[in-house]
Parts: sequence; structure tokens; C-alpha cells
Amino acid sequence: MLADKDRIFTNLYGFQPFGLDAARKRGDWDDTKALMARGQDAVIEDIKASGLRGRGGAGFPTGLKWSFMPKEPVKDRNGNPRPNFLVINADESEPGSCKDREIIRHDPHKLIEGALIAGFAMRARAAYIYIRGEYIFEAKVLQQAIDEAYAAGLIGKNASKSGYDFDVFMHRGAGAYICGEETAMLESLEGKKGQPRLKPPFPAGAGLYGCPTTVNNVESIAVVPTILRRGPAWFAGFGREKNQGTKLFQISGHVEKPCVVEEEMGIPFRDLIEKHCGGIRGGWDNLLAVIPGGSSVPLVPAHEIIDAPMDFDGLSALKSGLGTAAVIVMDKSTDIVRAISRLSYFYKHESCGQCTPCREGTGWMWRVMERLRTGDAEISEIDMLLQVTKQVEGHTICALGDAAAWPIQGLIRHFRPEIERRIEAHSGAMMEAAE
Ligand SMILES: Cc1cc2nc3c(=O)[nH]c(=O)nc-3n(C[C@H](O)[C@H](O)[C@H](O)COP(=O)(O)O)c2cc1C
Ligand code: SF4
Repeated sequence: MLADKDRIFTNLYGFQPFGLDAARKRGDWDDTKALMARGQDAVIEDIKASGLRGRGGAGFPTGLKWSFMPKEPVKDRNGNPRPNFLVINADESEPGSCKDREIIRHDPHKLIEGALIAGFAMRARAAYIYIRGEYIFEAKVLQQAIDEAYAAGLIGKNASKSGYDFDVFMHRGAGAYICGEETAMLESLEGKKGQPRLKPPFPAGAGLYGCPTTVNNVESIAVVPTILRRGPAWFAGFGREKNQGTKLFQISGHVEKPCVVEEEMGIPFRDLIEKHCGGIRGGWDNLLAVIPGGSSVPLVPAHEIIDAPMDFDGLSALKSGLGTAAVIVMDKSTDIVRAISRLSYFYKHESCGQCTPCREGTGWMWRVMERLRTGDAEISEIDMLLQVTKQVEGHTICALGDAAAWPIQGLIRHFRPEIERRIEAHSGAMMEAAE
């Protein structure tokens, strides 16, 4: 179990105030100028050495991503320099995910200090924190913390007396899941409809207002100051190679005590649940399946996940993923077909409608899922549905299409007999009724 002395988020549960004085006592903003004085490239190298991978779902190496940003200003067609930007993704709309809100409402200064250091490393002029519209209280807290940081000279002109000018803006979303996708977020920030852009160009080449931009998740940025203070080797010492560091896990569903907890990457599933959640409701024999990384990753049946390491490689070996580490636990009382059908409805509802396989496919898949739920279907439709998920997966502008396909693929992979049982029971009942 991760020792208290190794926790980055020491106010995760809000036992202390979120404000600047309390944050300073926790070690935030402690000689930030000295961290910046190491130099921009040294900060990027340290983040590379720490092994930090993006905490927003895809797990892209953070230091490497930062190194894609231009070191010299890119000129527009009139020869004027374009600023670089950092965009922080606080949209957190993936069903099951609820970690970024804990950082924002209880430890916002970690995020703001991280924004300054990360922005400085990437030669950014400002950070835009895009926060989901439903986080009303969190937005208030965050704005208050930003105002405090400005008033104390920590950000703004000559931020933290570093000689570097850096602004932080908060922008509230309006409740669309798709605005969590990085290029849709840029469109939304620009005041347009939040629809993903075709890539390339990637944001580091042409992002916000056509300027070089990096989009990072809240947790990815908030851990940066502590990594630099304690050293990349300290962070890299947790977990396995390529799966390093500490991580916020969010466990919901059929456990005794659902919670958000910071743990070492790679902690076995059983330990995570036993040590922090009081076990599975009704005992381990009552576990049916787990969605380990938020609604878009395939479920894993009980016997496969119990001893699995909770990290990127451990879960991809089980044909699932760590995603945002939003662990949704389902016991045997769960109607698993209904649960996945409900997720299909979510993706159908949230599709932005730009590309045909996603716009048409998500609705089609949901309608078939609903029939599989009641059993009012043909056995052959199971494979037909599977085939349609393959036609959506990888054939769309953004990963929402994959996110809609994968939960269904996981269901069919592991629970085909249950789907068939329903269809047979339904046709049996129909025949009885006809006699
Ligand atoms: C449909 C969709 C929704 C997404 N929602 C979020 C989100 O709410 N928060 C987030 O950090 N990343 C989200 N992402 C991933 C972002 O596009 C991007 O990869 C991430 O913010 C990068 O940050 P990281 O490198 O620090 O992980 C989403 C992606 C897709 C396709
Ligand atoms: S995959 Fe879906 S959400 Fe993404 S751009 Fe296409 S239609 Fe929009």
C-alpha cells in the first residue's frame, strides 16, 4: 500500500482548506522560481525521466508530448510570432471518472502551480483550464484559487518572480462529453460547436486559434510540481517499467466503500479493493465483472481481473485498458447486458454526428443492444452486432467511435452465453404464448 509520505495529493479528501495558505503549508508554491530556474528543457527531461504517462485516458508519455512543442515562436503569415498555449482538460465526463474534481475542489493550487511549470517548459503564454459545466462548485473554487495566485504574484506578470509572464484562464463547458476530446475542446474554446478536428495537423502544430498547443489532463499537470521537487527517480520508483508513478483510482459500484484513492500503479485489483473499499459487496464470490478504466474500456470478468495489476500493460493484456482508472465494479446482481446497453445509449447520445459510422452506428448498436437485453433478437444478430462494432472501430474522426464499440465487444467476448440464454428464453416464451 502506498505510504502516506509518498502521496502527492495530501488534501484529496478536503480535510484541510483548499486556499493558498493551507496549500503552502502542504508544500505547494515552495520556491517555484527555483524549479523554473532549472530551465525549460531540463523540466521536460525530468518529466520524461519520471515515466509519467497522460492520466486522461490514452496514456501518452507526457514529457514526450511536451517535447513536440516548438522551442522558437512559430510565425504567422505576416511574420508575427504566434504564442504557444497549454490547455488543461478538466472536462471529466467519462462515466465512472471522478478524480479531477477532487483535485480541483480540494487541491487546486497543485493544478495551478503545475500549469505554470508545464506552461513554462512548453514556452506557453497561458493555460486555459476547460472545466465541465456541471462542476459548478469546483469552478468557483478553482476561480478563487486562480485569483489568489494572481494576487500573490504567483502567476501573471513575472510569475513567482521567475521573470516569466504566464496567465491562467478558466473556461466552463456546457455539458457535452465530446468536448473532452482534445480537438473538440479547442473548437469549443474558440467559441464554436465542440466537434473534433481531423488530425493532422496535431495541436502541437496548429491548436488553439491556430497556435501550437498541448492538451493535458488535470491529474497529469497537477503531479508535475511534486515530481520535480522529489525527483523523477522517486516517481519512477513506483510501479513497473512504462507503468510508473502513483495514480488516482476511482472505485464505484458494488464495493462496500466506494472511494477515490491515490495508489501505486500496478497495485493488484484485489489489494485495491480490500485495502481501500472494504471488499466486494457480498464477498469475492459475488463479483461478476469490472470495467477498469471508465465506461469506454471493455469489461473484464471476475476470474481474470482479481489478481491483475492495475496499470496500462496489465489491463491491455486482458484486452481492456487503464483509461482514467475509473474502476466500475459489478456484482452478480447486475444485469450485465442492460448495463452495457445503457452505456451504448450514452455514446449514441453524445456522438457529435460528424462521421457516418459513429452517427449511424452508435444508434444502430444501441437499438440492437436493447433487443439483446430483452432477448427479442436472433442468435445470428450477436455476430452481426460484433461485425458492426468492427466497422465503427477505427473508422471515425475521433475515438468516441471506438469508445462506443469496445464495451459491446467486451460483453460479447465474455458473456455470449448469457446473451444467447436470453434470446432462447424469449423465443421459448413466445412459442408458449402462441400455443
Ligand atoms: C470522446 C472523448 C472524450 C474525452 N474526454 C476526456 C476528459 O474528459 N478528460 C481528459 O483528460 N481527456 C479526455 N479525453 C482524452 C483527450 O482527448 C486527451 O487525450 C487528453 O486530455 C490528453 O491528456 P493527457 O495526455 O494528459 O492524458 C477524451 C477523449 C475522447 C475521444
Ligand atoms: S467519432 Fe463520433 S463523436 Fe467523434 S467526430 Fe465522429 S461523429 Fe463526432
